[in-house]
Amino acid sequence: MTSYLSIEDLARETALEESLIRFYESEYSKDLPEKILKGGVFFFDGGAVDAFKQVHLRHDKNIGATGTPAAQLKNKYARVLAVTSGKGGVGKTNIALNLAIEFQRLGKMALVVDADLGMANIHLLAGIHPEYSLKDIITSGLKVSEIIVEGPEGVGIVPGGAGVLALADSTPVERARMVAALEDMERAADIVIVDTGAGMTAGVRDFLLAADEILFVLTPDITSLADAYGLLKALHHEKFSRPIYSVVNMVSTLQQAADVALRFSGCVQQFLGREVVNIGYVMKDSTVGAATMNRTPFSLFDKEARVSKNVRNLAAALLKNEMPELKINSAFKRYMNLLKK
Ligand SMILES: Nc1ncnc2c1ncn2[C@@H]1O[C@H](COP(=O)(O)OP(=O)(O)OP(=O)(O)O)[C@@H](O)[C@H]1O
Ligand SMILES: [Mg+2]
Repeated sequence: MTSYLSIEDLARETALEESLIRFYESEYSKDLPEKILKGGVFFFDGGAVDAFKQVHLRHDKNIGATGTPAAQLKNKYARVLAVTSGKGGVGKTNIALNLAIEFQRLGKMALVVDADLGMANIHLLAGIHPEYSLKDIITSGLKVSEIIVEGPEGVGIVPGGAGVLALADSTPVERARMVAALEDMERAADIVIVDTGAGMTAGVRDFLLAADEILFVLTPDITSLADAYGLLKALHHEKFSRPIYSVVNMVSTLQQAADVALRFSGCVQQFLGREVVNIGYVMKDSTVGAATMNRTPFSLFDKEARVSKNVRNLAAALLKNEMPELKINSAFKRYMNLLKK
């Protein structure tokens, strides 16, 4: 007897996202069975499950083979930029959120993932009230589109919090669900900014190691520099080899920003032999506190404030440093592979 599968059935049977099924339909139609029209609705026959799994496997093998449709799709993966610091309270969350807003204003679709396990607080700064988090993808099978909350200027906010830790204990089936969901996210956006907690804590480590690029938030405070160096050294020992940038926050003068950036990059170069590119600075500005009191990101609260202009420049500098070849691999797939170790 022929069984008829709806797209939801097929998604469940193959563990592929519906959007991916539709993409495969358009890209690999000749390798897939014809759909059946019944009562004005298209169904898949039972053979479609294997056919889609085969196409999915083949598609995955094509990663990196330039010029193929698969490679073109992979090129559409978002840049995944992790914002981190050695020490807490240096301005990561503020920079991550306002940077996303500026990317959005520059015509880039930006998502912020709240991966801070301790004080997940992007929603407070963004003035939103998320109902779900990454954890619900694992436990309730929600889709990424169902947990994303639209923040200011259309920025997508992915509440993570404790869900990030739950990932470390997830089963293979749950992980497959998560990979599909996170990959969906990387396809939907141009840039994904991951706001992490400070330091190399469990759960954050893998996000950092998987990211395409890491942005270190430094401050003129000497302990911030020492802690940042310690974190970078740990990443270096874990063989993180993709670009690392720094931004100096809460500076009083340009000279101070330049001194701090140089001290950090000099140290890293001298002792670890690797490069850190300073990508900008953000002045110390009472606008940040005033905007927070107002539950509004400072880039919206006062577009012309110094800090807002600083973050705008930061976004522009990061876009200038775009490295297209980075986008052919999924950072979140890397992340899930790291979790398995
Ligand atoms: N450029 C700035 N000028 C003035 N105050 C700032 C600036 N950047 C951040 N702050 C203030 O510093 C504090 C910490 O900021 P934020 O929460 O963004 O840091 P964080 O690194 O994400 O902290 P945590 O490590 O706790 O996650 C907040 O009170 C914020 O208002
Ligand atoms: Mg924070």
